[in-house]
Amino acid sequence: MPATKEGRVTKSKRAQRSSGSPARRVSSVAKSLPLVERTNALAIGDFISQYVPSLDVMRLQGKGADHAESTADKDSRERENNIQLDVYSTATLSGEDLEACLDLVELTSREDYSTSSAGWSRSKKRKEMKLPEMKYLILRNTTEKAELSGQRQCEPPGENKLENEEDTKSKILGFLSCMVTYEDGREVMYCYEIHLSHEARGRGLGGMLMIQMEEIGRRIGLEKCMLTVFRSNTRAREFYEKGGYQVDEYSPQPRRLRNGTIKEADYLILSKRLLP
Ligand SMILES: CC(C)(COP(=O)(O)OP(=O)(O)OC[C@H]1O[C@@H](n2cnc3c(N)ncnc32)[C@H](O)[C@@H]1OP(=O)(O)O)[C@@H](O)C(=O)NCCC(=O)NCCS
Repeated sequence: MPATKEGRVTKSKRAQRSSGSPARRVSSVAKSLPLVERTNALAIGDFISQYVPSLDVMRLQGKGADHAESTADKDSRERENNIQLDVYSTATLSGEDLEACLDLVELTSREDYSTSSAGWSRSKKRKEMKLPEMKYLILRNTTEKAELSGQRQCEPPGENKLENEEDTKSKILGFLSCMVTYEDGREVMYCYEIHLSHEARGRGLGGMLMIQMEEIGRRIGLEKCMLTVFRSNTRAREFYEKGGYQVDEYSPQPRRLRNGTIKEADYLILSKRLLP
């Protein structure tokens, strides 16, 4: 589910208002900016090289070095080796990939939105997904096609993001979008979306995306990770709970209506501390 307050994004206006290319902005003003604005002013290539751990490092962290490998482990490792994680900013994400991500959101969550007070609007969701400071972690299955376009982890952003767009569309297994921002005065990583295709679920890939986002947040030096989840999305709530998320102090409190009934908000704000 997305962030619920649009104000969250407007708080980092200094970076948004700056003019010129991201790289130029960094060289001229970055040093004087606070952490959130400084991070958001980075060109995506610099963001990746400074903060994004390599997928191999993440895999090693998840497995004991002296772990004896069973056939099932081997199958799962082979499957994992066919997964590629690409990191983008809104500016470097192709229109095709954006629409593919939007399709996933619609497929997995349209019903939850429709029955909530927010309602579903594809155009509103697209607008939110195009917020300039959003980052995208996109999982692709590399077995489907050998050559990929877009921007691979730790590679500099491609100049021509339309190049080979045809090749990328069918390969998205899932994605996570997040933003370095302020929430109630704290410097946080806000997870806006995490959605996996049906075939990709239950294989630990969702957990891997969350770990990756959290590690980026830690490396940046952010205090916590936050996200918003529909109360009705029990699977996602269990998933977040397993990952160490708890109801945040700023999650909406139940409201007493005029007729005396208590009304719970249809979403919860969860968070996890990143710094000790
Ligand atoms: C919710 C969703 C992303 C979960 O992804 P998934 O890959 O199917 O999740 P899994 O059930 O395989 O669980 C992944 C593992 O990651 C672990 N994990 C989850 N979050 C973690 C975290 N932050 N840190 C470490 N581990 C984590 C879990 O403990 C689980 O470990 P286990 O396999 O040892 O039990 C996926 O089901 C989905 O896309 N649902 C539809 C869209 C949706 O509802 N999105 C949420 C919107 S708010």
